[in-house]
Amino acid sequence: MKIMVIGGGGREHAIIKKLKESPKVDIIYALPGNGGIAADAVCVDIGAKDIDGAVKFARENNIDLAVVAPDDPLVMGMVDALEEAGVPCFGPDKKAAIIEGSKVFSKKLMKKYGIPTAKYEVFDDMAKAMEYLETAPLPAVIKADGLALGKGVVIAQTRDEARAAVRSMMEDKVFGESGSHIVIEEYLEGPEVSVLAFTDGKVIIPMVSSMDHKRAHDGDTGPNTGGMGTVAPNPFYTASIADECMEKIFLPTLEAMNAEGRSFRGCLYFGLMLTNYGPKVIEYNCRFGDPETQVVLPLLQSDLVDIMLATRDGTLSDTEVRFSDGAACCVIMASDGYPQKYEKGYEISLPSPMPADVQIYVAGARLAGGELLTSGGRVLGVTAVASDLRSAVSKAYGAVGNVVFENAFYRRDIGQRALRAL
Ligand code: AMP
Ligand code: GLY
Repeated sequence: MKIMVIGGGGREHAIIKKLKESPKVDIIYALPGNGGIAADAVCVDIGAKDIDGAVKFARENNIDLAVVAPDDPLVMGMVDALEEAGVPCFGPDKKAAIIEGSKVFSKKLMKKYGIPTAKYEVFDDMAKAMEYLETAPLPAVIKADGLALGKGVVIAQTRDEARAAVRSMMEDKVFGESGSHIVIEEYLEGPEVSVLAFTDGKVIIPMVSSMDHKRAHDGDTGPNTGGMGTVAPNPFYTASIADECMEKIFLPTLEAMNAEGRSFRGCLYFGLMLTNYGPKVIEYNCRFGDPETQVVLPLLQSDLVDIMLATRDGTLSDTEVRFSDGAACCVIMASDGYPQKYEKGYEISLPSPMPADVQIYVAGARLAGGELLTSGGRVLGVTAVASDLRSAVSKAYGAVGNVVFENAFYRRDIGQRALRAL
């Protein structure tokens, strides 16, 4: 089979490495991929949001399966365009991708179908939002409606902070039109869990749970980032909580989307908060998480090509989706200064030979004269798999010590919260 994967980050690298394990795969193209992905796929200089470019490439190269991994092209309707051109896709169509593309949509969906989530109000008028903030409970969580690179959420501890956030979204439009509508919601407390699930619109099969580490610095301090590391499974997510989530969240979401005529096929990501009042949805994503994928897919033992085709064809109930009962840890190595200002262009030296059970998933690097150079904030993720979490964490950090580039920065405590919970 000829497969193309849209995107060029660590998540896409992890998807590509897992796809390559399938005997069905002949060649994988990455659009656009990156300097590290180039070791595992043929990188093609077509941007992840270039729908026309992707359709043209898929037609000319007789692509058998297109995996659309990032949120932007999904929300923009890349799957619709590819399918219309006869290219089978893994990923939701535009109608279903709105579950991530609009927070107003997803909040209304949850309210209508009784899916547990934070209490909220929607505003499209700044004066009304300001008036509401006079008496809103604190901290207040303020979210821009549309995609905002994961940065459209402000947790305001004081009324002044809340007002400033509303002003910057609605008046200064720091997130563009995404801030024309905002959601102000109740602050939820508890451990956070990410659950990715395969669904074909008929059945939903959760993958192994995971835990992201979103803050830049140790001890969950510093600014929010795209994610500085992950572990799987998440020890807070017990079997009984998993059952409760299936009954109260996963199946109701699947049915709600079907009832709305927006049947979801692909990977549906549930960002959950395990509160004292039960699990609640913080966010839906219409795609694999990054860096959750870098710990979840290494634990997948079944054929990812078969699963992806089954989500599209509606045959997931007949398809094996099996995970190992081991654990994985991914430590993200970033450029010092990320998520703000950082320097790039430094040569990366990788462990050689690569230790057993360790994978490097490259996010921000380019090739120049055969050398791999840093080219982004998050540079790469080092994932180790082991029979238990403690060994996975120590193996991952062992390998991190052998990845060298100038200005490297990483958290030292990925997995510690999970280990304390065990
Ligand atoms: P989101 O972009 O919706 O994933 O939000 C980013 C992060 O903000 C989440 O991963 C949570 O850590 C935090 N967050 C979002 N909504 C809430 C909430 N209602 N209460 C507490 N934390 C939240
Ligand atoms: N790790 C969070 C996300 O992919 O949105």
